[in-house]
Amino acid sequence: MNNDLRDVVFSGIVAVRDRLMSVDNAIRLESGEPSFDTPAHIKEAMTKALADNHTHYGPSTGVKPLKSAIMKKVSEQNGIDYLDGFDKIVVTSGGMHALYCTMQTILNSGDEVIVPQPNWTATTWMIRLAGGKDIGVKLKPELEYRWDLDDLKSAITPQTKAILINSPHNPTGGVMTKADMAALLDLAEKHDLYIVSDEAYEHIIYDETHYSIAAVAKDRSTKVRDKIISCFTFSKSYAMTGWRLGYTTCSSQEFADNMKKMILYTINGVSTPSQYAGVAALEGPQDNIFTMRDTYRKRRDLLFDGVNSTDLLKCETPPKGAFYLYAQITDNWSGSAWDLVNYLIDNYSMGSVPGDVFYDDQKAIRFSYACPTEMIERAIMSLKAPKKPVSA
Ligand SMILES: Cc1ncc(COP(=O)(O)O)c(C=O)c1O
Repeated sequence: MNNDLRDVVFSGIVAVRDRLMSVDNAIRLESGEPSFDTPAHIKEAMTKALADNHTHYGPSTGVKPLKSAIMKKVSEQNGIDYLDGFDKIVVTSGGMHALYCTMQTILNSGDEVIVPQPNWTATTWMIRLAGGKDIGVKLKPELEYRWDLDDLKSAITPQTKAILINSPHNPTGGVMTKADMAALLDLAEKHDLYIVSDEAYEHIIYDETHYSIAAVAKDRSTKVRDKIISCFTFSKSYAMTGWRLGYTTCSSQEFADNMKKMILYTINGVSTPSQYAGVAALEGPQDNIFTMRDTYRKRRDLLFDGVNSTDLLKCETPPKGAFYLYAQITDNWSGSAWDLVNYLIDNYSMGSVPGDVFYDDQKAIRFSYACPTEMIERAIMSLKAPKKPVSA
C-alpha cells in the first residue's frame, strides 16, 4: 500500500452520513447536496448526445463545443476575458478533480499553501497528497469570515507557494470583497505566489456580487495573471453533483500543458455525453440558478432565525453565500462539538458537521441548508426542544 495514504482520514462528514443512511426520515443537514434535480433541458441534451453517438473518446481536456461555451461564460459572466485560446480551459471531473489536478500540477514536496481556517476538508487533503503543507489562516467571525490582511502577511514564508481562496466559502458562507482580492493580488505579486480560486459557489451568493479574482487581476502583469488558477463546477449552480463536471481556467501555457498531463493520466477526459449536457447548462436558460438561489436564501433566513432562537447555538450574521451556516456553540453546551453532533443524531436523527472537521474548532457546528425546507423546519423544532441528557 501507498504509505502516503496511511494518515489520510475520511472526512467526519462521511461518518455522520453513514450513521444517518439507515435512519428513516433523517434530517440531513450535514451534506452539501442540492435538494433540486438537474433541469430537464440539461438531461435532454445528454439523451440527444447519446442518440447522436457522442459516445467516443473526446480530446482529453474537453470537447470543443463545451470549451467554447465555457470561454463565453467566463468572459461574459466572470470577466475573465484574456484567455487566448481553448487550451487555457481544462474540463475536469467535477470541481474536486479540478482542485486535485491543480494541486498536483503546481506543488512540489514541502511547498506551503495558505488556506482559510476553517477549510473544506477535501482541499486540505489534496494539498497534503500533492506533498504540500496547508497553513491555516483564521477567517475572522468579526470580519464576517474574511481574512485580516496582517494575519495573511505574517503567514507567508519562503516556502509559501500558493494561497487557496474559496469565495463564497464552505463552511462559513463568508464572501471576499473586491478590495480583499486586490490586496491579495498585491501580496501574490510581491511574493510571486499562485492563487487557487475555488469558485464552486459562484452563483450561490445572496446580497453581494461574486468576483472572480482572475478578473480583478485583469490589468495586472501577465506574470501575476498566469499564476491564478480558477476552479469551477457545474455541481452546485446547475444541481449537477452526480454528473461530475467542472473546469479550470488559467492564462499560463505552462500550466495548461502540465494540467493536460494530469487529465490524461487520471481520467483521459470527462464522459463525452456529460460534456454535451454541460453545453446545454451554459447555453440554455439560466433562470433555474436564480430560482434555486432564492429558495436557498429563504432557507438561510429560516435556519438563521431558528438557530438564534435556541439556547445552544448562536450565529452573528447571516451567511452571505454558499448554503452553509456555521453556528457558534454557546456555553449552555458543556461538551465538545462532536458531542453535540452525536446528541443531535441520537435524539433527533439530525445531521450536522462539527467544526473540528474543518480545523480544530471545538466551538462550532456546520449546518447545510441545501436540503428540503421541510427538513429545516423539523431541525429548528428539534433544536428548540428541551435538552435531553447526552446519550453515552
Ligand atoms: C468548497 C468546495 N469546493 C469544491 C467542491 C467540489 O464539488 P464537485 O466536485 O461536486 O464539483 C465542493 C463540493 O462540495 C465544495 O464544497
